[in-house]
Amino acid sequence: MPEVSKRIKSLPKYLFAEIDELKRKKIEEGVEVIDLGIGDPDIPTHKIIVEKMKEEVEKPENHRYPSYDGDISLRKKFVEWYFERFGVEFSPDECITLIGSKEGIAHFHLAFLDEGDICVVPSPSYPVYGIWTGFAGGKVYEVILREEKNFLFDIEEIPSDVLARTKILWVSYPNNPTTACANSDFYEKVYFYAKKYDFVVAVDLAYSEIYFDENQKPLSFFEVVKDKKIPAIEFHSFSKTFCMTGWRIGMAIGNKDIVSALGKIKTNTDSGVFRAVQMSAKFALENYHKIVPEIRRIFFRRKKKVEKALEDAGVKFFRSNATFYIWFKCGSDSKKFAKDALDKFGIIITPGVGFGSGGEGYARISLTCDDKVIDKAVGILPKLKELIEK
Ligand SMILES: Cc1ncc(COP(=O)(O)O)c(C=O)c1O
Repeated sequence: MPEVSKRIKSLPKYLFAEIDELKRKKIEEGVEVIDLGIGDPDIPTHKIIVEKMKEEVEKPENHRYPSYDGDISLRKKFVEWYFERFGVEFSPDECITLIGSKEGIAHFHLAFLDEGDICVVPSPSYPVYGIWTGFAGGKVYEVILREEKNFLFDIEEIPSDVLARTKILWVSYPNNPTTACANSDFYEKVYFYAKKYDFVVAVDLAYSEIYFDENQKPLSFFEVVKDKKIPAIEFHSFSKTFCMTGWRIGMAIGNKDIVSALGKIKTNTDSGVFRAVQMSAKFALENYHKIVPEIRRIFFRRKKKVEKALEDAGVKFFRSNATFYIWFKCGSDSKKFAKDALDKFGIIITPGVGFGSGGEGYARISLTCDDKVIDKAVGILPKLKELIEK
């Protein structure tokens, strides 16, 4: 077999391999493993969306190649929803449909990075930004997110020669894994620097709708800066908002030329999202108020239970009103902590270092499993205290 490419060889070692192996062994031994690792909602997609999909699948006109940018009726609905949620008016040709936001996020790097160009990537963060910067030949400049700054990075601390060579800067709040949210001052500062140094602000809003305080809804970048000409793009997802992870649909919206550059990569890569899925996503947006509040209620109930258990045990976690994760301090070696948690207590928790060096010392609990599993976890989580170094 010929050698695989340098880009494949340069991929980091799969961090979770040892944990996966340990999980397999535990299950073989008959241990009931409690998996709080993956951020994939257990809540089924709402019945009315499933019924809509059944109708749409029957229609022969949906069986042909879909449009590249996404069906105009979906894009119209999306900009309408965006206006209602964030108060910024876009036209349908300023947004594009994605095969899940991950697809758009990944391919976006090919639209702007040439060999040696810098992409600013927060650490910890969703690993796709860094990996695809490498695939595109770019260089990652890591900014560490620190708890004492509420996990907001300080753009002023990035050296000016780095900013001058920066093509993309990633921002993602509510943040996976830290759960932190951004305030308008943070976005204003990013905006100021984006204008000064002319880089693209790429905003990942996959968790924008998973919030628990109506008075503190997560902000969008455009909502704060109110400038649609700034080179910026936002990535939105149906996965977390509507518990539709398996359906694979997301949206990108923003500066028309930036969105169109992503479209050029996509037109030469994929052929769009199955139209029946697009029509179901449009229906989901039409029924947003019927569907999403109940999803929030379920995650909030679980969050309160788990937080109380951690609090009672004296485990320190970061307080946030968004995402379905809990981010807590676990000691200096998060991978060892996660292995011990599985080995001793049969519980799977994601080590923070899996999201970059900035995540070391922390671990992430995901609340995306059945309430009965959460109840069992609540009985076990306080025991983790003994694994956390003083
Ligand atoms: C921060 C973040 N962005 C984007 C995604 C991708 O979501 P999807 O491709 O399902 O829209 C995820 C998934 O876990 C995520 O955590």
